[in-house]
Amino acid sequence: MAYDAANLSEKSALDAFWLEEAKRLTWMEAPTVASDVSFERDDFRIKWFEDGVLNASVQCLDRHLAERGDKTAFIFEGNDPSACERISYRLAHEEVCRMANVLKSRGVGKGDRVVLYMPMVPEAAYAMLACARIGAVHSVVFGGFSPDALASRIEDCGATAIITADEGRRGAKAIPLKANVDLALERLAQPPKLVLTIEVTGAQVPLTPGRDILWSEERDEVAPTCDPEPMAAEDPLFILYTSGSTGKPKGVVHTTGGYMVYASFTHEKVFALQTDDVFWCTADVGWITGHSYIVYGPMANGATQVLFEGVPSWPDAGRMWEVVAKHRVSILYTAPTAIRAAMREGDEFVTEHDRSSLRLLGSVGEPINPEAWRWYHDVVGEGRCPIVDTWWQTETGGILISPSAKSSDNKPGAATTPLPGVLPALVDNEGKPLDGAVDGNLVLTTSWPGQARGVWGDEQRFFDTYFSTYPGTYFTGDGARRDEDGDYWITGRVDDVLNVSGHRMGTAEIESALVAHASVAEAAVVGYPHDIKGQGVHCYVTLKQGIEASDALATELRGHVRNEIGPVATPDRVQLSPGLPKTRSGKIMRRILRKIAEGQPDQLGDTSTLSEPLVVESLLKGAEKFA
Ligand code: WT7
Repeated sequence: MAYDAANLSEKSALDAFWLEEAKRLTWMEAPTVASDVSFERDDFRIKWFEDGVLNASVQCLDRHLAERGDKTAFIFEGNDPSACERISYRLAHEEVCRMANVLKSRGVGKGDRVVLYMPMVPEAAYAMLACARIGAVHSVVFGGFSPDALASRIEDCGATAIITADEGRRGAKAIPLKANVDLALERLAQPPKLVLTIEVTGAQVPLTPGRDILWSEERDEVAPTCDPEPMAAEDPLFILYTSGSTGKPKGVVHTTGGYMVYASFTHEKVFALQTDDVFWCTADVGWITGHSYIVYGPMANGATQVLFEGVPSWPDAGRMWEVVAKHRVSILYTAPTAIRAAMREGDEFVTEHDRSSLRLLGSVGEPINPEAWRWYHDVVGEGRCPIVDTWWQTETGGILISPSAKSSDNKPGAATTPLPGVLPALVDNEGKPLDGAVDGNLVLTTSWPGQARGVWGDEQRFFDTYFSTYPGTYFTGDGARRDEDGDYWITGRVDDVLNVSGHRMGTAEIESALVAHASVAEAAVVGYPHDIKGQGVHCYVTLKQGIEASDALATELRGHVRNEIGPVATPDRVQLSPGLPKTRSGKIMRRILRKIAEGQPDQLGDTSTLSEPLVVESLLKGAEKFA
């Protein structure tokens, strides 16, 4: 066992454990109850610390002021290596209060939704905490999403205000964030009435009078203090959109009390946090990792963190390691895709920088292949640093399965053991529990405080997606193997969700972007193994009658998906084909498409139910050029 946990399989023991952990927060009214949970259809509910009252921003700011107000909260490392700034908890508190006051002065209040579309600058964290301070619900949209994707999220959550930046900087590129917001708002029937723009690059951006305000002009007009709004533990803290196997992205809802307890708890335990650690999580605040392990967890724990605006490849491939050396990072938390990309550049870029400050390495977002694990361990960590391969999801709020930070003989690629109070199980496709060393579908049999509470505006979809497949349990969508020691190895999604460079994407989303193109009749999207990205996106497209297939059209379709969803979804391959393999009842046989994309034509399996067997021949031929 990686963690010293009492026998936490009984509800009473679990409740006592979590009620004790709740004391890590500063409550306005301390909770007297832990959980009130049922995963059953008839009386479905998930509630934690229900009678507790608190404010998330107080955990991250106010309670540090008396004893460590001058401690550095953020070491901001700009895109430009010469731009660096240290921000104390005291300064962060002041900035958050000012931003909260600006929002308040424009009528934003408790329960209102605010969409954030921000680069990786301290103001992104301030904006999240400013919303939390006044009880507004933030929804951060990753700055790499397109105006269309942004518009649909604004519309879905009914946001009344937007916080953005003039531009973002990523290496040599500038990202036109404010211009994208303008485009998104043009598409909406009821656009938000307030856009607060932070000046990051100072680029001239058009302002719409009566709607657009500038941070530099508002900041000094308001007070540097702001009373925190008392929030019930189950009041929503944020919405974060994520992809599933069907339909549009879902707005996953996290609430205040349980999420904060869990973010703080996991950040402290998984990373064995010490007061003088310099923690660097390389995720973007647009993803759950940035929410839980840049903003809410580390800040609740009063940690000092590196906040990095740029990209690991700029000005050169040594940037990550340069930052580690410059700020004496002790804990580095990054994604396998970044590790694989760095590995390809050669050891020199790593070894030329001092890594003696590192004591622990973390991995998150996708399965890490043993080769990348070993390189991370041996080259980056000089063989000294344990690796915590942390498994979790947007819906879990925080890490559920992770090796111990103290163990030196972790298994390359194993997420290993559940955290205390987390009860995973493996079930077969009929839902039968599986014992011992075995492969199966990964479920959780009980709740934990950081669990998502819903899908914004669609309770039924929440239940159907996660609690109906294997009744009485939360189904993760992942497959896993348990080995002889009882350790868990995540094998990847068992549904139609892709994980491209650690970014989660629904095949259905990419398919609907493709069929929105005038030339496309039908599309099917699958993943295939990709050396750097983990998975690549392979699109099979059939064209409308009379449209000629060409390389130019394939390229156009790639650009089309990029525009519709964003650069992260850009297809690696577009294969124009005369047909798709279907059963006689018309169902697309994705298994066959996957095998073709994976380059395993000899493993197509049973093809006897195909309505037109010849389609497979032409698909195989068409796929040759990608081999
Ligand atoms: C999916 C969740 C966890 C925050 C970032 C991604 C995959 C995540 C691991 C890991 C193997 C992993 C799973 C999961 N995943 N961590 N350590 N090993 N797979 O959050 O976008 O909600 O994606 O990422 O497939 O279901 P997300």
